[in-house]
Amino acid sequence: MTLPLPPEDLLAGDTLATRARWLRAEIERHDHLYYDLDAPAIGDAEYDALFRELQALEAAHPALRAADSPTQRVGGAPQPEFRAVRHAVPMLSIRTETDFGEAAAVAFDARVRRELKLGDEAPPVEYCAELKFDGLAMNLRYEHGLLVLAATRGDGETGEDVTQNVRTIRELPLRLKGDPESLPAVLEVRGEVYMRHDAFARFNREAAARGEKTLVNPRNGAAGSIRQLDPKVAASRPLSFFAYGIGETVGWDIPATHAGILDALAAFGIPVCGQRVVAKGGSELAEFHRRIGAARATLPFAIDGVVYKVNSLALQSELGFVTREPRWAVAHKFPAEEATTRLLAIEVQVGRTGALTPVARLEPVFVGGVTVTNATLHNQDEITRKDVRVGDTVIVRRAGDVIPEIVGPVLDEEHAQRACFDLIAAYPECPVCGSHVVRGEDEAVARCSGGLWCPAQRKQALLHFASRKAIDIEGLGDKLVEQLVDAGLVQTPADLYALDAGTLAALERMGEKSAAKLVAAIGKSRKTTLARFIYALGVRNVGETTARDLARSFGALDRLLAAAGSADLERLQRVPDVGPTVAACVVDFFAEPHNLEVVAALRSAGLEWEEGEEALDEAVLAAAPGEVAGKTFVLTGTLPSLSRDEAKALIEAAGGRVSGSVSKKTHYVVAGSEAGSKLERARQLGVEVIDEAGLHELLKRQGFLPEQGEEQ
Ligand code: IVH
Repeated sequence: MTLPLPPEDLLAGDTLATRARWLRAEIERHDHLYYDLDAPAIGDAEYDALFRELQALEAAHPALRAADSPTQRVGGAPQPEFRAVRHAVPMLSIRTETDFGEAAAVAFDARVRRELKLGDEAPPVEYCAELKFDGLAMNLRYEHGLLVLAATRGDGETGEDVTQNVRTIRELPLRLKGDPESLPAVLEVRGEVYMRHDAFARFNREAAARGEKTLVNPRNGAAGSIRQLDPKVAASRPLSFFAYGIGETVGWDIPATHAGILDALAAFGIPVCGQRVVAKGGSELAEFHRRIGAARATLPFAIDGVVYKVNSLALQSELGFVTREPRWAVAHKFPAEEATTRLLAIEVQVGRTGALTPVARLEPVFVGGVTVTNATLHNQDEITRKDVRVGDTVIVRRAGDVIPEIVGPVLDEEHAQRACFDLIAAYPECPVCGSHVVRGEDEAVARCSGGLWCPAQRKQALLHFASRKAIDIEGLGDKLVEQLVDAGLVQTPADLYALDAGTLAALERMGEKSAAKLVAAIGKSRKTTLARFIYALGVRNVGETTARDLARSFGALDRLLAAAGSADLERLQRVPDVGPTVAACVVDFFAEPHNLEVVAALRSAGLEWEEGEEALDEAVLAAAPGEVAGKTFVLTGTLPSLSRDEAKALIEAAGGRVSGSVSKKTHYVVAGSEAGSKLERARQLGVEVIDEAGLHELLKRQGFLPEQGEEQ
């Protein structure tokens, strides 16, 4: 490799300082050729060699390191946190006009004129109109021309010192242009750090190729990069900057207009966006808004509106501020971006609870700063309401400029000929596990019924199965479930019973002791109750209480399976509080062969419980007569001394049952403070309402004295 040689005189009387200076100048020259003129004169390897030599020189002789050295751009060591910095002049926010129409521009001008007490005959007010960049606000402090501090806006008073990261932004000068003698002692430049669309796309392409995480959108990309504690990460992100104002200045003859300030900043070498005009009066502002709105999609970076500022600084100070916003400026927004594209297909995703969410696959379209290839359609009702059909041209919007959403179809001639989408018809079986898909009568959501089997629901199902109120396996929490499933050791709850301590001990963060403990806990859980077992299966709408009632009423699992298997809704509804919805959920669950397989596997794994006689509902109620026993309670609001769980435990210990909703079958509603709709419903149905003291009274009358909370 041939390095460009420094001029003879430097080689001759070579000192380290002159060598360092020469390297800096050479690197800057190549940066300029590469970044500004797009005309590189040397290859990457030669450039790297220059750079590394300078780095080595500076590392060996720290005195040679200058604040404006190009080596400062690559980022130093990671920091533990960002230092807080108080802004010399607060960073204010700006009033936002969300009315997208042109009237807002005219109204702003009228407001300014009124406040300046300008009569109708006075000449139009001059404004500087510019773009509202969609990135992250930044304050850059230059002292005697050198960039010494970069801080985020924070709360406007205090921001964070992100100098290391901002130094990595190539297009920002580390030293201002101009005669060093006449540069301001202090010049704070304010503006927006942002990411260009092409830089964003390139970054994501490369990150994806390396198998790394991609950025969600350019704005998050900019904000996220600036907040990286490791400046090397920030250095790898292609960021840009546009100035839109100033903060503190010392020793600078401030221009008389805002446009003059922006011109002066540009002359210092600070990037200032060319899309700015001096406009006279409201109609020219409206014209700017219209023109930029039309050009918005073709800009190489994201904007979310335009900003109008009174141009004269003298008039600005006359207008002053209201709270934290200047009266002389306003942001005039654009509506969320929309685009049209083709709906290629509607697929479904299966969530942790088995819910099937339809997802629109779209022909890739660039909208609101990102390429959108799919959008959620939420559920069947949403598809029906919007009447979107596969093959349609659809309008896509990035709602809140983040989540892509389908607004509706473009009603072309073919639309009517296309088939309406019917989720259940398209997906009668779960695309993940093949179990049948059901949708309850009053439900918006369609679900996979393979709760115990479906890989999409596996982790959730296992966690529920092992939870305290279900089979109660101590120590089996979400981290462990995650590990067991990811390692392929456990697929259904039945697999838990085949685990041995040796296998478990090989897992990360799992010692031999805890492995043995877990195996013991799993073993212990084999002895359970029918109620716990039913609850642990995770049948939709079958909570703890319903599971207990099912267990009491059927007495034996096979009797429940028989009723469910023959879809005996009538028998199921003889169980207290089981209505048509719950009965249908029970039938659906046991109609899925995969679930029955798991139930069978659990039984052969040795799970056991005591079984009893069948008891029909009246019998269940009659089994334990008393003030509380056999009665149904509903708890609502906050009780003065008992928590919900404590009250529930007391009632159940005395043989009562606690239900979640008030019906005609409810005997008592126990109401605390801030009781809401349940109390209302109790009154409508004429159900007796008592308070905590009333509950204690009932318990006492039954001769049931709770162990705790007993009166002294
Ligand atoms: S002026 C006193 N001009 O919008 C006025 N802000 O202020 C200070 N923004 O997060 C702000 N482009 O970072 C101004 N051309 C522009 C802007 C702009 C974007 C951001 C700014 C701040 C927000 C509201």
